[in-house]
Amino acid sequence: MPRKLVAGNWKMHGLSGDLAEASVLPAPPDVDILLCPPATLITRMVQAVEGIMVGAQDCHPSAKGAHTGDLSAAMLHDAGASYVILGHSERRTDHGETDALVRAKTEAAWSENLIAIVCIGETEAQYKTGGTLDVLRGQLARSLPDSAPAERLVIAYEPVWAIGTGLVPTAAEIAAAHQEIRTWLANSFGTETAEGIRLLYGGSVKPSNAAGIFAVPNVDGALVGGASLTAADFGPIIKALAVA
Ligand code: PGA
Repeated sequence: MPRKLVAGNWKMHGLSGDLAEASVLPAPPDVDILLCPPATLITRMVQAVEGIMVGAQDCHPSAKGAHTGDLSAAMLHDAGASYVILGHSERRTDHGETDALVRAKTEAAWSENLIAIVCIGETEAQYKTGGTLDVLRGQLARSLPDSAPAERLVIAYEPVWAIGTGLVPTAAEIAAAHQEIRTWLANSFGTETAEGIRLLYGGSVKPSNAAGIFAVPNVDGALVGGASLTAADFGPIIKALAVA
């Protein structure tokens, strides 16, 4: 069994004063805790907070070059990041990111020893037409490199319609999606590798629903957006995972 992981995605939120929220989080021993602040805060968060890992929210696929405003995996690693979120639906929507680009970014992240959290998930329209599992299989096939080291890969299942909406799939739906992802990983990379890859659920995870989500088979943790911004919300989610 891989170690449980709860990751907070601060998105475009957070100034220096907000680091105080990270410094008062609980740190139970059996749970890996990760915060992904804006890149501007990575180094200061690493310096300010003990017992919490710090990650980035995106990286460029190239090692260096003329790419104004972008950050390479090496720069993020140098700043103190140990993880990077890739292919988040907001990147796919706001910046037109494709599965092929996510794959290239995953390779770039691995080349700098970052752990990649690859995000997949169906849109509302795909959900309503029963296409969820097909969508997930396709995204996995196109977004992941041909081989994957289990300790460097995390998959986040984030239904697009559940992100920031307060809507959450049923436990049975999350179970079916995570089972499908685990099976796909086993068929592609072997059973042992598949069992070592952590599968996170993401989309409107709150203190009120975290325990129920963590009880679902094949859910190894969560990727949390809005509720990761304050210790008052993120703390109870961390504690719920610790006892799951
Ligand atoms: P949310 O975001 O928890 O605010 O729904 C999740 C995410 O986008 O990772």
